[in-house]
Amino acid sequence: MSYTYTTAELESYLDFGIHLAKLAGPVILEGFNTRFSPERSALLVKKGNTADLVTEWDQKVEKMVRAEIAEKMKGHSFIGEETVAGGEECGLTDAPTWIVDPIDGTTNFVHGFPFSCISIGLTINQEPVVGVIYNPMMNQLFTAAKGQGAYLSKIDENPREQGRRLPLSYPHPAPPLPSLSMALVAGEYGSDRKAEVIDPKVKSMRNLSARDPSPATPGRAVGHAHGIRCLGSAALNMMAVAQGQFDVYWEVGCWEWDVCAGIIIVRESGGVVVDGCGREVTDGQLLTGRRFLTIRGCCGEDGDTSPEAALAAQKKIAKEVWSVVEDMECPRK
Ligand code: IPD
Repeated sequence: MSYTYTTAELESYLDFGIHLAKLAGPVILEGFNTRFSPERSALLVKKGNTADLVTEWDQKVEKMVRAEIAEKMKGHSFIGEETVAGGEECGLTDAPTWIVDPIDGTTNFVHGFPFSCISIGLTINQEPVVGVIYNPMMNQLFTAAKGQGAYLSKIDENPREQGRRLPLSYPHPAPPLPSLSMALVAGEYGSDRKAEVIDPKVKSMRNLSARDPSPATPGRAVGHAHGIRCLGSAALNMMAVAQGQFDVYWEVGCWEWDVCAGIIIVRESGGVVVDGCGREVTDGQLLTGRRFLTIRGCCGEDGDTSPEAALAAQKKIAKEVWSVVEDMECPRK
């Protein structure tokens, strides 16, 4: 079933997403600031994988946000990281669906590295249409609604009136990347460290940065990128792309709650998000496929500002990335 919506409804959903961020922000900040308190040992909830952390704060924030959505957005569905981790079935349908990561960058949150955020996305017909990402430690609020642009503001500002439109780069649109060798690239190792998962990622990161091919990856090209960065939060890596700071972000292994809000904010900043290994996918398949490649906004060759020329320049970089990284499957179980 296909759902229709008006611009006014979309705006009200964006306002509601910002309202959720305002509720969650002080709670996340309190958890961040009290992490060295005597109760800190109670912060971590064991999941059986020492690299896949969850805290009582993730659970508390998700519970609060979910209850607010259930009360105020009747008939809307909900997918949340901790709800799914708790064993609930949450399939993506065409219905308006709030997709939430209560704390993206939980490892940073636990260690006091201030790159964590709440990520709140809304899909309709399986397409991300509203995104709100809020890092309360830095008071950075990233927002977008489909067709209405992307903004960076502070939590108590009106994004459109007082915020800065994304990307922040000048001139706008920025020139296209001539090649991957000129790029600042973000990539993550993720939390699944089983050999069969981590090894191809390490090879991919090696080839994104390396000058020379490796006999361990026959047939794979190399990117020789300017640098590789890992912020430790998929959503904030995407926001660095939306701002025009990172040129490319590649990760296999994240989930729809890590990227849903980021996808619409990146798109509204002029960037693209595609399958990380080069498959042709619908938005629903992209969201649930766990392989993501994000490329910043730009104009086309010779300053051509048409959307087609920009997309051609972005596709050129995407193809280069796909020729460098390992072609990985990423099952959901
Ligand atoms: C994780 C972070 C991390 C990324 C993982 C995500 P979480 O989310 O975004 O940077 O590498 O793939 O699952 O567990 O902190 O919400």
